[in-house]
Amino acid sequence: MSSGPVLSTRGLAAGYGGPPIIQDVSIEAGPGRVTAIVGPNGAGKSTLLKAIAGLIRPAAGRVLLNGRDVTGLAPEKLIREGIAYVPQVQNVFPTLTVQENLEMGGYTRASGLRDRIEFVYTMFPDLGAAMKRPARTLSGGQRNMLAMARGLMVDPAVLLLDEPSTGLSPRFIAAVWEHIGAVCRSGVAVVVVEQNTRQTLAQAAWAYVMVLGATRLAGPGPELLRDEEVVDLYVGRLT
Ligand SMILES: Nc1ncnc2c1ncn2[C@@H]1O[C@H](COP(=O)(O)OP(=O)(O)O)[C@@H](O)[C@H]1O
Ligand SMILES: [Mg+2]
Repeated sequence: MSSGPVLSTRGLAAGYGGPPIIQDVSIEAGPGRVTAIVGPNGAGKSTLLKAIAGLIRPAAGRVLLNGRDVTGLAPEKLIREGIAYVPQVQNVFPTLTVQENLEMGGYTRASGLRDRIEFVYTMFPDLGAAMKRPARTLSGGQRNMLAMARGLMVDPAVLLLDEPSTGLSPRFIAAVWEHIGAVCRSGVAVVVVEQNTRQTLAQAAWAYVMVLGATRLAGPGPELLRDEEVVDLYVGRLT
């Protein structure tokens, strides 16, 4: 049994060919808990997830999975290693049915596809009810749940979620967080990037505030939420 973080980055830098967008980012995510990355628009949160998931190649630093260096591996390799990534947009195939989307999500599995789909339907009963519907006919909230469920098809150690609740009504936001909680309880290390800072910090066992491509603050989410400076600068006061 290893007791360290499932996922960690050490001094990670990445960008899109120009100057680095994120620099010297070191984060850790533990099993069975939510690790949040919050911060203003353009801070580099999505870029960080893309660098971890292998969609862009880190310019410096390392990505470690259970202590093993997986920096720079191709996205499909990282999926096989246990890192599932759910992008912010275009995260489902709209013309495919719910079931077909899940099958696509599990394409790297050597076996157990049926059982895994059943497991996912148990966790997301709404998706089971909609299994034959094309994804484009789902509500925004259901689509986000399908995207999350698709990520889970590979039975990942780490689930990276980019703004799973953005654009959703409060009812669906609550449902998304319930599902994130269920995923956590199944032992997965969940890394959530969100703009909805207050709600996200409230849910996060550990959170990083990212500003201008660097992590500026870190701590237990609820503790950051009690920090007046954090609230003033990054969360906003309740009116
Ligand atoms: N594909 C891209 N090519 C070039 N620059 C990009 C690309 N995606 C994002 N950026 C730039 O990287 C910076 C950080 O963006 P992003 O990581 O999306 O921030 P966040 O997710 O925190 O809002 C922004 O300045 C953005 O313009
Ligand atoms: Mg983003």
